Amino acid sequence: MKPGSAATWPLPPIIDFETPSFLDTEAAIRGVEMASNTAGIDYQASQKIVHWLMAILIILDLFVAQKFGGLMEDADRIQSRIDHSQIGMIVTVLFVLRIFLRMRYGAPPLPDAMPGWQKLAAHAAHWGLYVLIGTLILSGMLSAVNANSVIAPFGLFAFGDGAGEESTFLFFRGIHEFITNAIIALIVVHVLATLYHLVIARDGSTERMLRFWRSARQSA
Ligand code: HEM
Repeated sequence: MKPGSAATWPLPPIIDFETPSFLDTEAAIRGVEMASNTAGIDYQASQKIVHWLMAILIILDLFVAQKFGGLMEDADRIQSRIDHSQIGMIVTVLFVLRIFLRMRYGAPPLPDAMPGWQKLAAHAAHWGLYVLIGTLILSGMLSAVNANSVIAPFGLFAFGDGAGEESTFLFFRGIHEFITNAIIALIVVHVLATLYHLVIARDGSTERMLRFWRSARQSA
């Protein structure tokens, strides 16, 4: 209030129960979606491209890495580590781009018909995937830094000098493997949930990432 201006009566409440708060989950989610959304109903085309490229490359990197647990010829292990890290670095760049696009464009709102608990679960799973991908990349890099061979993706830079301590390498590789398993479990849940929304609930939420012929900007 400006100095000298008259107070209006009744005074505004100290706690405004009309304003969405985190105690009111659905209203809070609506508020976040409205604030972060650019008034579209689908993700931006750029967000869809980055999403599907990351999905393909993470699965590809899993295929390259599936033999690391077993015995390997030294030359094969060294080359596979380089291949694996190169794909991992492309995933890293896409991950940074994805976070930028998410901050720039937000996310389209979930359908009104979707129950509040499902919206909450969807938000938790999406943020969980972001955290797991970030820690997967970080633990992979720490494994590479401590490996007993030089890992230089695309010959651009080397993660370490190839003289890492075995126990430190195994420690970070163990974390990397644990996070990989957690991410596989969450991806399975994520895929099952999107299939449920696509085939059974048919509420349009999955199409927000599938529909390449319409982006948020076109529909705004
Ligand atoms: C993009 C997602 C990634 C996935 C899904 C992934 C997955 C895996 C898996 C499953 C293993 C084998 C774990 C084991 O059996 O012990 C592994 C090992 C490894 N990863 Fe990754 N990783 C990713 C990213 C990265 C990145 C970004 C780097 C580093 C730049 C990296 C470096 C390594 C190294 C050095 C190993 C150990 C290789 C060895 O045991 O000889 N990873 N990764």
